[in-house]
Amino acid sequence: MNREPKQVTRRQFFKAAATGIIAGALPVSLVKLSFAGTAEDFTFAYISDAHIQQIKGSNFVRNWDRGLIRAVAEANLLSPAPDFVVFGGDLAQLGTKEELDHGAELLSPLKKKLHCVMGEHDYYLDLGEYWSKLFGPQHYSWDHKGVHFVVLNSILTHDQWTHERWPTAVQRMSEMAGLDNPNGSPFMVGQKQRDWLAKDLEKVAKDRPIVVFSHSPLQKIYKGWNFWTDDAEEVQAILQPFHKVNVIYGHVHQIQYNQIGNISFNSVMATAWPWPYPSTYAQSGSHVPVLTVPMNRADPFFERDATGWQFVNLHTGKTDLHFRLFDNTDRVVGYDPAKGHPVDKTYQAKENRIPPQTHY
Ligand SMILES: [Fe+2]
Ligand SMILES: [Fe+2]
Repeated sequence: MNREPKQVTRRQFFKAAATGIIAGALPVSLVKLSFAGTAEDFTFAYISDAHIQQIKGSNFVRNWDRGLIRAVAEANLLSPAPDFVVFGGDLAQLGTKEELDHGAELLSPLKKKLHCVMGEHDYYLDLGEYWSKLFGPQHYSWDHKGVHFVVLNSILTHDQWTHERWPTAVQRMSEMAGLDNPNGSPFMVGQKQRDWLAKDLEKVAKDRPIVVFSHSPLQKIYKGWNFWTDDAEEVQAILQPFHKVNVIYGHVHQIQYNQIGNISFNSVMATAWPWPYPSTYAQSGSHVPVLTVPMNRADPFFERDATGWQFVNLHTGKTDLHFRLFDNTDRVVGYDPAKGHPVDKTYQAKENRIPPQTHY
């Protein structure tokens, strides 16, 4: 792929946008909301999985820093401006105060309100204590222009694993930080939050669009890498009675989309590094690549390969994700009402595509 013309174009574009030359000209086309007045059209930005990692003192892994800095700068340049920004979890790599502080500092230039989701890399050192001091509650909801938004902490696990298995908090964190580590434990939302979710949704009309943000997928994709939430079916059962439900999750560091009943699922890209796609799982004899390093790029010589961020357009009450892939072709995955599931607007029509999974 010849990336250079794209790089130059984009660099020039943002340079121009930053100086106000073409401010307002970003290619964001807002489609009229069909469930509300035209004044209610809006987008929001979604940045995820920055994995800010301290080396020593004030030294942090440069590449992870640069991914987050770039996403924040680009989100600030969007026009029309997004109504708010979501950070989808894994702000830190090993959950330390230094990493979370540094990550919060890199997020601080955002001009719009920030809503945060808990990731396992943020949680398993002090069980979310310092993160909550910085960003607030770990599950909550709000209404915005006719849409009900919900944030869940989906990366909890069994009490025995969390509280009894490991001699130190540092070891607990490092065990959960390894994606393919068999010593990890399946993620779950848990009974307490499921009860809260059911109660929270009691006041929501069935035809009101709902967007749920989680870190792990609220569906079961691949247990070996914890692309998995153990009580996904129970959470889905609470959401199924509603007509327009969208679940947006991080954690998998790749584009995924799916439809189960009334629920559309969309993943978001990481700003740090990509994980391999499911089709690559089958390329090794065991169907599972052996991962021994935390970075696995399609192109190891291109530091931003397969990373990016996204803005979300909620025009029909279903989410269209516009992926801003760093120095790569942008991509849109949106809901197709005729098909009844999300489609990749760029690649869906091509020959030899792999259809989205409808069951597991
Ligand atoms: Fe992550
Ligand atoms: Fe994660």
